[in-house]
Amino acid sequence: MTDNRLIIFDTTLRDGEQSPGASMNLTEKIEIAHALAELGVDIIEAGFPIASPGDFEAVQAVARQVHGPVICGLARCNEADITRAWEALRDAPKPRIHVFLATSAIHREFKLRMAKEEIVRRAVEGVTLARSLCDNIEFSPEDAARTELDFLAEVVEKVIEAGATTINIPDTVGYAVPDQYAGAIRHLKQNVRGIDKIVLSVHCHNDLGLAVANSLAALKEGARQVECTINGIGERAGNCALEEIVMAVRTRNDFFGLELGVNTKRLLPASRLVSRVTGIHVQRNKAVVGQNAFAHEAGIHQDGMLKHAGTYEIMRPEDVGVLSTDLVLGKHSGRHALSQRIRDLGYHLDNPQLQKVFDDFKVLADRKKTIYDGDIEALAEAVLHSGPAVWTLEAVTCSGGSATVPCAAIALWHKAGTITRDAGTGDGPIDAVFKTIERITNVYVKLRKFSIVSVTEDEDAQGEAQVEAEYNGRILRGRAISTDIIEASALAYLQVINRALLREQLKMNPQTEAVSVT
Ligand code: KIV
Ligand code: ZN
Repeated sequence: MTDNRLIIFDTTLRDGEQSPGASMNLTEKIEIAHALAELGVDIIEAGFPIASPGDFEAVQAVARQVHGPVICGLARCNEADITRAWEALRDAPKPRIHVFLATSAIHREFKLRMAKEEIVRRAVEGVTLARSLCDNIEFSPEDAARTELDFLAEVVEKVIEAGATTINIPDTVGYAVPDQYAGAIRHLKQNVRGIDKIVLSVHCHNDLGLAVANSLAALKEGARQVECTINGIGERAGNCALEEIVMAVRTRNDFFGLELGVNTKRLLPASRLVSRVTGIHVQRNKAVVGQNAFAHEAGIHQDGMLKHAGTYEIMRPEDVGVLSTDLVLGKHSGRHALSQRIRDLGYHLDNPQLQKVFDDFKVLADRKKTIYDGDIEALAEAVLHSGPAVWTLEAVTCSGGSATVPCAAIALWHKAGTITRDAGTGDGPIDAVFKTIERITNVYVKLRKFSIVSVTEDEDAQGEAQVEAEYNGRILRGRAISTDIIEASALAYLQVINRALLREQLKMNPQTEAVSVT
């Protein structure tokens, strides 16, 4: 690697998963990891193995199945965390252990109750142990951006001596501003012995909306790894957004002069995937991947664009993966065209899954004049995330209106081969549907969010229902699409019920998922 190669360290599966309500299951994490590898990130931080059995399993699965990037796991600075991280990572062709310990005065005094000497001793011990297991070690002095510069330099120098190969400087609480953060990087470059032997990394949170700006300022001072997440998801206001930092570095190559290994055409598919899996929507005006990022409304702008796109466009939409047209396939389209479009939309399906989507596509094409990307996404997702269902929908009807009691009649199949029919009332027709489903299945969840949006256009547009509900302290999500919004709602709710039952089956213990950092 040259001195000007920028290393992209993606932490969507670790810091990103710490976004409130963004937890992902194993299949989803593996799917995202494959998308990140396809995008060409250099490092995937796949999780925090000691945090829970689920986290361990996910890091191990990504380490075993996803090849190309370095696979990294997080550990606090103690033996149990580090050995557990190594256990999860050891099968990866290119593993990295990421050890962290807080260094700022406020963390030393109130969280850790440790003096400076003890912090240094523990950091060195942790890195020494990690290095005895693995050649690739990253150390993060947590809350580095609020740490006294001289003490920060001392810790960094000692962990480099102990064998750290990457030093990451987190702005854990998003407090830094660009000049100050760049100054900290400069200080380390000028005052730490051995700093030229390691890679300096940046990790910025977005509490003041400065995560990308701070990261860019640090790159100018010689940092060569940037830690980021797809769509900028992460604890509180999130992390530095991968798509923004990548496109800033690429678009302003004249200013930064940095090389990247990212295939930017996969940015939008990765963004859509993460948004679908986490249920966290991307705002319309979000830089690079928002729906409006390349839309020109003002007449003067449109006129300029027609004369020369460069008048108002600094990036080409196709370079970030915006597909040229939304209207694509119809009844007579073949399997090949469909699979290509599915891939462009960011899905990774195997042959049986592709066949199922193709079969469903033909059925839909009979019901609907035009098939849009939203339709194809819906079909792909139904196949990917349907999971083993205990209950499936046979039929749903409901009625509502101002002069009647809203009611629903539902028939559900149980996987044992029995069918149950029931009817009930509710505060509205959808509420009646949900309550009746609960009564039939005997699973009761607390509804937190429900929305219906149209995913495609025209009169026969499909409606997407999204349900978020709480069950035993965990958030479960369901999502379904149909040309009938009542059916979509029932299907999405049923998905949540099936996930709750699956969770019971797996005897998942929410307490084991309590450890988290930013
Ligand atoms: O924000 C932070 O300090 C972190 C570290 C664990 C790197 O996420
Ligand atoms: Zn963080």
